[in-house]
Amino acid sequence: MRKVILNKVKITDQKYFSKWWRDKELLQLTSGILKRISEREVDKYFQNILKSKKDYHFMIALDKKTIGHISLVKRKNNWHETQIVIGGKKYWGKGYGSEAIKLLIQKAKRLKISKIYLEVRPTNTRAIRAYEHCGFHRIKIMRYPKNKYLPETLRMELK
Ligand SMILES: CC(C)(COP(=O)(O)OP(=O)(O)OC[C@H]1O[C@@H](n2cnc3c(N)ncnc32)[C@H](O)[C@@H]1OP(=O)(O)O)[C@@H](O)C(=O)NCCC(=O)NCCS
Repeated sequence: MRKVILNKVKITDQKYFSKWWRDKELLQLTSGILKRISEREVDKYFQNILKSKKDYHFMIALDKKTIGHISLVKRKNNWHETQIVIGGKKYWGKGYGSEAIKLLIQKAKRLKISKIYLEVRPTNTRAIRAYEHCGFHRIKIMRYPKNKYLPETLRMELK
């Protein structure tokens, strides 16, 4: 299998987010908000990623080519939330996402972070399977009736 590695996010990575945060197919699987965001907004969100001191953001690279982003964000009560996007669709379903999640879990262990969860669209079976391969278990359906773009998620926790 080709080699997947995680690299710390750097300033020149903004170009990937400009593309992925505007990709309708990706947005449909994640936030559900399809309205095109401006370059100014991309810049604002990306600067927050770069500035953040307590969160971890990595670019996923496959044989040196950047293909995605994975993060571990500090939440309440010692929990951390993870999120992942493989931006290039030709790389989906080939095991690279599972590999990146496993690498993130190894890094988290070294940082003594053990309580990790994620929330996924309940219909996103590819993502759910990848998470299950990495040791995440289905916990419960979370309901957000006020969020018309993502009214329900499946919470999964690392066991
Ligand atoms: C979710 C994501 C990170 C998973 O990474 P990936 O490299 O595609 O996933 P993997 O190849 O490691 O594993 C996917 C699993 O789903 C299966 N799968 C592939 N395509 C599928 C499909 N269309 N429907 C259901 N399952 C599918 C694969 O066979 C594999 O399971 P298996 O090993 O038991 O056969 C990646 O697909 C992605 O970024 N998708 C778009 C954004 C997204 O959905 N992010 C998650 C938001 S919570």
